[in-house]
Amino acid sequence: MSDSPDIGANRIRTPGIGDEPAPIDAEVRVHDARADIPDDDLDRSLRPPTLSDFVNQSQVTEQLAIFIEAARRRGEPLDHVLLAGPPGLGKTSLAHIVAAELGVPMVQTAGPALERKADIASFLTSLEPGSVFFIDEIHRLGRAVEETLYPAMEDGELPVVLGQGAGARTVTLPLPPFTLVGATTRAGLLTTPLRDRFGVSHRLEHYNPEHLARIIERSAKILEVEIDSAGAEMIASRSRGTPRVANRLLKRVRDFSQVKGTGEIGGAVAADALAMLEVDAGGLDRSDRALLDTVATKFGGGPVGLSTLAIAIGEEQDTIEDVLEPYLLQQGLLKRTPRGRVLTQRAYEHLGIPAPEGAASLF
Ligand SMILES: Nc1ncnc2c1ncn2[C@@H]1O[C@H](COP(=O)(O)OP(=O)(O)O)[C@@H](O)[C@H]1O
Ligand SMILES: [Mg+2]
Repeated sequence: MSDSPDIGANRIRTPGIGDEPAPIDAEVRVHDARADIPDDDLDRSLRPPTLSDFVNQSQVTEQLAIFIEAARRRGEPLDHVLLAGPPGLGKTSLAHIVAAELGVPMVQTAGPALERKADIASFLTSLEPGSVFFIDEIHRLGRAVEETLYPAMEDGELPVVLGQGAGARTVTLPLPPFTLVGATTRAGLLTTPLRDRFGVSHRLEHYNPEHLARIIERSAKILEVEIDSAGAEMIASRSRGTPRVANRLLKRVRDFSQVKGTGEIGGAVAADALAMLEVDAGGLDRSDRALLDTVATKFGGGPVGLSTLAIAIGEEQDTIEDVLEPYLLQQGLLKRTPRGRVLTQRAYEHLGIPAPEGAASLF
């Protein structure tokens, strides 16, 4: 599903905005604010083009800047780079930036698109020397494809089997030098041999509200919308630590302000818009609260297993693990235990309900 700003604007323009929203509208709006839905046009226009535009994550960018500069001076390709972290924190942006800073072309694909050895072989053999080859969702590569990557990453070679049966033999084709940039939301699913072949490996972390406010102010300039620091801080504090969510909320707040306000974004109009979007003061939206509420009311606060929880709230297990949980865990609202997910005292406070008897032993 692609995000359409027009749909958001139209919804906001529908009469009766102060009324209880129709369920279907609410559903659309909630999903609109999530990080898991790619929003290609938005992402492209707001994507930071250089390392210096990339806000925060300085532990990552400072190191990358040095490695990139060293590779450029030696005229060699950069070592392979692995970028891990929850959706919307800047992995794809960084891959583009690495290619741009190296001044080389980038070729992009994703794990699920590479099913057979031949798929990856055709990418590898047609790379321009020095290119960045970006594989998104690299944890979803097939086994055979992954094994083809090992010699390609390590020795720049592609083994090819010629002939069949007893007469078959393997020849190795030399490959053009390249830098593999892999992105993953689930570093834990990567096999050790693959992980070990990346010379540079970084994990992106959730952003604090100050950094998100800077991203929002930068995006507002690109979108040509006036925003003051109270407005930026209000949106930042409710963006789940995630730049993609920050940009998405900024666009929705802009729509709201254009219709209900002056078109400019201050703290008050941002707060009204976010209330309408059902994003609460902790940055949690309806899906987050539904998860916490389900664990609290249906499972006595936990522990509850992932598959049971997925059925109970009607979400995919992957969505829970990739999108919902990382922020809830980081906020200390949810805990993972060997027996399943458990709510914390903080989660009960957030939900405004008392913790059940005996729950304290689980905290
Ligand atoms: N550090 C950052 N500085 C500025 N904007 C960022 C940053 N990280 C992410 N963004 C914004 O968030 C959007 C999503 O980032 P993206 O690189 O697609 O995330 P990922 O690939 O990790 O899901 C980008 O379009 C960009 O506008
Ligand atoms: Mg991405």
